[in-house]
Amino acid sequence: MYDIQKMTLRDMSECGLALRRLGDDALTMEEVSNNIIQYLNQNFIDSSSHEKACVLIRFFKTHSYRELTPDLQEYASQILKDRIVSDNLKCLTLLATAGELPEWNSRYQSVGHKAIPLVDADAIARIPMISQLIQQLGIDTGTVVQPDPTFLADLEQKMYNVFYVPNASGSPYIPSQTAFVAPFNVKSVLGFGGLLPSGNIFSILMFLKVFIPPSVLDLFRPLALSIKMAILPFDDGYIFKEDIQSKINAEIADKNQNKSSQYLNSQIATLNQLLDVSEKSTITQSDRLEDAIANLHQVLDKLQNTQIQLIQNEKMSSLSQMIAGIAHEINNPVNFIQANVSYTEEYTESLLKLVKLYQQKYPNPSVEIQQIIKQIELDFMTSDLKAILKSMKLGTERIRNIVISLRNFSRLDEAEFKTVDIHSGIDSTLMILQHRLKENNNNYSEINIVKNYGEFPQIECYPGQMNQVFMNILSNAIDALELGVGEAFKSQNPQISISTQAIDQKGIAITIADNGVGMTEAVMSKLFNPFFTTKPVGKGTGLGLSISYQIVVEKHCGEIICHSQPGQGTKFTIKIPIRNFHG
Ligand SMILES: Nc1ncnc2c1ncn2[C@@H]1O[C@H](COP(=O)(O)OP(=O)(O)OP(=O)(O)O)[C@@H](O)[C@H]1O
Ligand SMILES: [Mg+2]
Repeated sequence: MYDIQKMTLRDMSECGLALRRLGDDALTMEEVSNNIIQYLNQNFIDSSSHEKACVLIRFFKTHSYRELTPDLQEYASQILKDRIVSDNLKCLTLLATAGELPEWNSRYQSVGHKAIPLVDADAIARIPMISQLIQQLGIDTGTVVQPDPTFLADLEQKMYNVFYVPNASGSPYIPSQTAFVAPFNVKSVLGFGGLLPSGNIFSILMFLKVFIPPSVLDLFRPLALSIKMAILPFDDGYIFKEDIQSKINAEIADKNQNKSSQYLNSQIATLNQLLDVSEKSTITQSDRLEDAIANLHQVLDKLQNTQIQLIQNEKMSSLSQMIAGIAHEINNPVNFIQANVSYTEEYTESLLKLVKLYQQKYPNPSVEIQQIIKQIELDFMTSDLKAILKSMKLGTERIRNIVISLRNFSRLDEAEFKTVDIHSGIDSTLMILQHRLKENNNNYSEINIVKNYGEFPQIECYPGQMNQVFMNILSNAIDALELGVGEAFKSQNPQISISTQAIDQKGIAITIADNGVGMTEAVMSKLFNPFFTTKPVGKGTGLGLSISYQIVVEKHCGEIICHSQPGQGTKFTIKIPIRNFHG
């Protein structure tokens, strides 16, 4: 079965092969045409409804009046009324039919199309469907009425065309609009056919429930040639089944064996042509395939980019949300402690003053009091309490600063361009990474941060996104330093240097350099590729730098450059404009 709207090259080849074989066991032109019509009717479907695509499908062929059966001759003469009928008069004969109504499944039951005499060009012109069909097939109506044997051989090979009426409803070429087109919901009409060596034309007309795209129409040209191949042996043979009823099979076999040279020539020419047309179809279809593949690649790239952004945004936004949440939770108790520390200081001072006064006024206290003074080491406690309170004040101050940094880093509220101090972004990111910089249980030595910040105005940027870039580059630097861990490395003093400077009036540069393991050229060449990572599964996703590249280059019209050598550390330089780059 073939989805008629989405016919492929494969469908065309398969269908062509099947059609060419439909004449193998047939004895008459009528039989082969019936086989063809049945095959097309059964196998072309409308995939949206899973029904047959044809409302009605018919096979027409022209024959001379003398070739018709007596009942068809009578039918044709009735149409011509009192005109004199010549033996050579061409009649368009219905040879096979199939369709939704029972009466559309037998040529004998056709009312208007059993055999239409094509008296002259004018007569043909009066039957719009037929004249349009002949025109679309590329033949002169004169050739149909009176085939000229001299031109025929050449013409026969040119003639295979596809005729299509895209909008059956209201089309002047399709009669019976109210009785046929509308009630049976005929959307379009597809016709294809050709010219035979005898000068007769054949044509298949499909009245369809669907529309067919132009790319599919092309595929019917080779099918027309395959049908011609199937019927060719019968062009000079028996037409109707009535023709053979009186003859014996041996005679038929004999006839089939002695194929005329005209028939053989036509067969070779048609095969050549079929090859030609099929090859052209293959080229066109493979061009389409190439285009489709190229399009798919583009879509895939886009999808991959979107996916990267989604993953990274998700990662960052959950990190930011968590940090913002923690900052918020810490903020309240810290404020509470800070506010109370000064009272505690004040009250303690008053209490100590009181104790001192007691000591002055009562220099000789009881033994019990003396014992307690000794036990609690009053003098030491008095001096230490002040120091403790001072460090508590300092501690809360630090926690407050940390909270400010956490908030600064998460910047949930700032998804748009803001003018910010880029240094506070770097500092807050370092703050978040503080735990990885310290000497820790994993044997990693403390990483020394060397800052060298330049003087320049505030930068217009997406602050949250720039922090994301610092986070990615600094985490990579820490990873690279941790990789170099070991005795030899320890003596090298792991270090990250961060420097910033104005390049000119318009832009600034931020350099982040580490003295970690460095990179080979092979790694460098893939550095910014999405999903490129040298880290073990679960440690790296390979997205950090590709997203940083997008943020710096695409979102901030900047540059991100990397210098590195194995064992020599790595230096990333980010350049971004100070403002106005977003237009
Ligand atoms: N400072 C650096 N020193 C040495 N190699 C680095 C450095 N920065 C990046 N690389 C190399 O570049 C690769 C890609 O880095 P990227 O940040 O894009 O991904 P990742 O760190 O592997 O994973 P992710 O950042 O998604 O967790 C790393 O796997 C690493 O091999
Ligand atoms: Mg990374």
